[in-house]
Amino acid sequence: MTGVSCRGVTARYNGATVLSGVDLAVRPGEWLVVVGPNGAGKTTLLRALAGVIPAGGDIVLGDQKLNQMRRREVAARVAVVPQTPVVPDGVTVFDYVMLGRTPYIPYWGMEGPADRQRVTTVLERLDLLSFAGRTVSSLSGGERQRAVLARALAQDASILLLDEPTTALDLGHQQQVLELVDGLRREAGLVVISTLHDLTFAAQFGDRVLLLVAGEVIAEGRPGQVLRAEVVSEHFGATVEVIERPDGPVVLPVRTRG
Ligand SMILES: Nc1ncnc2c1ncn2[C@@H]1O[C@H](COP(=O)(O)OP(=O)(O)OP(=O)(O)O)[C@@H](O)[C@H]1O
Ligand SMILES: [Mg+2]
Repeated sequence: MTGVSCRGVTARYNGATVLSGVDLAVRPGEWLVVVGPNGAGKTTLLRALAGVIPAGGDIVLGDQKLNQMRRREVAARVAVVPQTPVVPDGVTVFDYVMLGRTPYIPYWGMEGPADRQRVTTVLERLDLLSFAGRTVSSLSGGERQRAVLARALAQDASILLLDEPTTALDLGHQQQVLELVDGLRREAGLVVISTLHDLTFAAQFGDRVLLLVAGEVIAEGRPGQVLRAEVVSEHFGATVEVIERPDGPVVLPVRTRG
């Protein structure tokens, strides 16, 4: 089981710096939620951690440096749920989720009964079994988002990177998916790093919250330390009331009248 740590991570697009000097460390079983306004660099940070874009600085997955790992090694260790997933045309939900098993299937080989069983179990846990034979492109937005999550879970990676995994889901499914991830990280000691725009969910599910603004870490710590009303006002331009509860703060948007 591996943790994730990085120091001084930088990323640029066309010469413009999007991440500058990001440090973080997440232990097995821990959930770090990255929050920040649109364009802050959250997706870029997850892409850097997954090794899909070039980044400066040091990223270490377990005891290995990311830039010294092969693509297949990274795939067996890191599962990603992208913010805007590209789903192939004409592929059934079952076959799509089976793609998550790719790191375990030998080159030129076929999936085995254990892979099919794993896919079935994951589909069941995400209420997707009845959609198994449908094409992914025929699913509703929320059903599709669950299929993408199912593919990531079928990968059995020890590091889960989730980019806004609940945006298309109804409230019940948002809670179901977050509870499922929460259970998995506790049972299996997964490292979970997610972005979440819903600051109440960020506070309730994150062990720690990292606030990223314009590519820099502004604050990092327990949800109640980071998600204070004045901090949310300053960095999100939002008026909120933060209500302390035993299971974490609730960040309640309140209407301002001019
Ligand atoms: N491929 C790209 N080429 C050029 N600029 C990019 C590219 N991808 C992202 N950017 C820019 O980098 C910055 C950070 O983008 P990123 O997607 O990481 O933000 P984010 O925090 O995930 O925002 P959101 O909350 O809207 O998802 C933005 O200004 C964005 O326009
Ligand atoms: Mg994003």
